[in-house]
Amino acid sequence: MNSSEFRKYGHQVVDWIADYMGDVQEFPVRSQVKPGEIRAQLPSAAPAAGEPFEAMMHDFKNIILPGITHWQHPRFFAYFPANASPPSLLAEMLMGGLGVNAMLWETSPAATELEEQMVDWMKSMMQLPTSWSGVIQDTASSATFCAVLAAREWATGWQVNETGLRDAPKLAFYTSSEAHSSLEKAVKMAGLGRAAVRLVPTGEDHAMRPDALAEMIAEDKANGVTPAMVMATVGSTSVGAFDPLQAVGDIARANGIYFHVDAAWAGSAMICPEFRPLMAGIEMADSFVFNPHKWMGVNFDCSLHFVREKDVLIRTLTILPAYLETREGETVTDYRDWGIQLGRRIRALKLWFTIRSYGVSGLQNMIRQHVAWADELAETIGAEPDFEVVTKPNLSLFTFRYIPDSKSSAEHDAISDQLLQAVNDDGFTYLTRTVVHGRPVIRFQVGPLNTTEDHISAAWRRVAEIARRLP
Ligand SMILES: Cc1ncc(COP(=O)(O)O)c(C=O)c1O
Repeated sequence: MNSSEFRKYGHQVVDWIADYMGDVQEFPVRSQVKPGEIRAQLPSAAPAAGEPFEAMMHDFKNIILPGITHWQHPRFFAYFPANASPPSLLAEMLMGGLGVNAMLWETSPAATELEEQMVDWMKSMMQLPTSWSGVIQDTASSATFCAVLAAREWATGWQVNETGLRDAPKLAFYTSSEAHSSLEKAVKMAGLGRAAVRLVPTGEDHAMRPDALAEMIAEDKANGVTPAMVMATVGSTSVGAFDPLQAVGDIARANGIYFHVDAAWAGSAMICPEFRPLMAGIEMADSFVFNPHKWMGVNFDCSLHFVREKDVLIRTLTILPAYLETREGETVTDYRDWGIQLGRRIRALKLWFTIRSYGVSGLQNMIRQHVAWADELAETIGAEPDFEVVTKPNLSLFTFRYIPDSKSSAEHDAISDQLLQAVNDDGFTYLTRTVVHGRPVIRFQVGPLNTTEDHISAAWRRVAEIARRLP
């Protein structure tokens, strides 16, 4: 494809995306295809000769699109949001056009320096310690993996990096029973085994119980196990619970344990001063991650990973073969040493465009509206005779159950699940499930950029209507 063809097709693609942004609500939110249906339409082997762009676009629309779940749909209330704002998409395109690998300062100084500046902007937007450093990773899972590796090295005096695990002490990693599975995955990837993970019980509010954490640490120490890391969550995946950072941080500090905080979803809300108290004590953390790609409008992927002492992270991950040495050496930041992979994209460009386009107040307003609308909907559902709000809104996430009088309480779990399936098969809106105190519930989180109050009430009316039609 030459540059004039690229220009022609590029305009077509931008037009298609702009139309999609306007029309997305015409699609069923969750893809309605059956397993294997898409693959069956794809040729079994790659084409020997090049094909015209028109043929690719035709197949994209006719084969791929029906198999897409529309995360940008204004009635997408499942999981957490993955907003792809128009300014971030334009930055994504520029980033791809430049085709840069920002692994070293020298391989694109602007990429590194913009990233450093975006880290500073975010620190001030979220009232984080000015002394912290930071890096943009792809996902929260990667940041948490880096934190686990740093904690492993911290706890063993960088011994595992040198000689492996054979002579290393037994380590333990603590997090709440509500924490995201990325911690367990990271511990497994770090070669420490699932058995090294301690799930600390939670209280009525689904937050980690500091007393239980302290007991588990004491027990491990008494048994010759070295506590390596505590991970607290700000806004848990299931119900949006907030662990008490101050109390957990105090325990971590008193025991010399690495303290990581995962705020993948809720972190974005911390740009609103009124929500900031939800992470009081964050300054105790050794590292902290949140995803602007969830609730701050930056298209996937963009995960902010802050560290109290950058040297701990860098010492854990650094490798310097001769072919990566540069004249600037340690006088500049080489982000290659701050994450898992060597090659890096210029994700800071997406963050920069997004923040500048909406302004801090634009992003704050979006989040405030989502929280207010979730509160209103939870109140409406709570007033309905056949429904029960199980967990009240934490920011913009709450859970509810369908408990019709016409069914016995033994049948309520099944009918609530049946309602969720019927709603998602219908396609008008998309909700997901979790389990609270052993019983299935339906999650509702308000997060899409283009959602209005009308989308929320229309979605709720459809859920109630589908419930009435269930046998
Ligand atoms: C609390 C929490 N942590 C971590 C993750 C994983 O995020 P990522 O996909 O960026 O790895 C999620 C995903 O929803 C999450 O809710």
